[in-house]
Amino acid sequence: MADKTIRTIGVLTSGGDAPGMNAAIRAVVRTALGKGLKVRGIRKGYQGLMNEEIIDLSARDVSDIIERGGTILQTARCKEMRTEEGQQKAAAICKKYGIDGLVVIGGDGSFAGAQKLANLGINTIGLPGTIDLDIACTEYTIGFDTAVNTAMEAIDKVRDTSTSHERCSIIEVMGRDAGYLALWCGIANGAEKILMPEEHDFDEAAIIKDIQESRKRGKKNYIIINAEGIGDSINMAKRIEEATGMETRATVLGHMQRGGSPTCKDRVYASIMGSKAVDLLLEGKSNRVVGYKHGEYIDFDIDEALGMHKSIPQYQYDIAKQLAL
Ligand code: ADP
Ligand code: F6P
Repeated sequence: MADKTIRTIGVLTSGGDAPGMNAAIRAVVRTALGKGLKVRGIRKGYQGLMNEEIIDLSARDVSDIIERGGTILQTARCKEMRTEEGQQKAAAICKKYGIDGLVVIGGDGSFAGAQKLANLGINTIGLPGTIDLDIACTEYTIGFDTAVNTAMEAIDKVRDTSTSHERCSIIEVMGRDAGYLALWCGIANGAEKILMPEEHDFDEAAIIKDIQESRKRGKKNYIIINAEGIGDSINMAKRIEEATGMETRATVLGHMQRGGSPTCKDRVYASIMGSKAVDLLLEGKSNRVVGYKHGEYIDFDIDEALGMHKSIPQYQYDIAKQLAL
């Protein structure tokens, strides 16, 4: 049974970075210090924990970071944490540094690590940090709003040149396993087609036919938003150009979507979630994930959260298709 008395809180960021993680770190640090606790920052996620890259954090250490993208604590992926031996080592290091409450900012994989640590007596709280929006227990994840706005602005620029040249443009957005960035950009940028990993059996011949018909209807460009999980944008562009005779270009937006100054929404939501993580620990809670649903900040048991499933809302996808008329 974990000791629920919290004196020192540790905080780490894990998995892919996301804009707004710094706002969450700042909120954890300042809320905890304000409530008389000590705060330790763990660099480079679970890998840094294994390597004991642990520093004390003061209120001034998190000055001037709310507006910065990335994560001041840096992040990593750590194979060792997936093993039982690694998890025991991580728990022992937390105990060695007096970390009795740990805030883990990351995605489902990072939460699985937090769950293992909770089972080993470390009180843990997960905060949803990913640009992919693919965490089932929450309608909001730290970083999605910034990433989708970054992608949207870039796609607007591609559209300008696409229309001028009457071209087809395939724009690849991030999302190896999730199509939320693609879906939102598809709607926000008025794309003709949205290709998502969840709908992986798309019909390229049907797209080619649609491009030909849309030319007849007077469309001056044809925008395809393609998620990273489908990929192959460059070859797809060659095939489409050959089949339709319409000049086709591919643009892979890549990691620019993960960086940049967080939007107001990401700063505010991440700040509230960071504070809530500390409050939950002080209420004696552990093995929980903070989420946002129906206008409220809530928390779920990690086991329950990891068991939830999220799928692309069909109604939204149907609307995107309808609006591409
Ligand atoms: P995300 O947190 O964004 O889903 P990953 O899936 O890469 O990103 O997970 C981040 C890190 O969390 C991994 O590198 C690993 O250290 C840890 N992790 C992932 N899955 C597990 C697991 N099943 N058990 C323990 N730790 C895990
Ligand atoms: O953080 C999420 C994400 O950006 C996914 O959309 C993408 O598939 C993955 O991370 C790429 O991660 P990396 O290039 O850091 O391995």
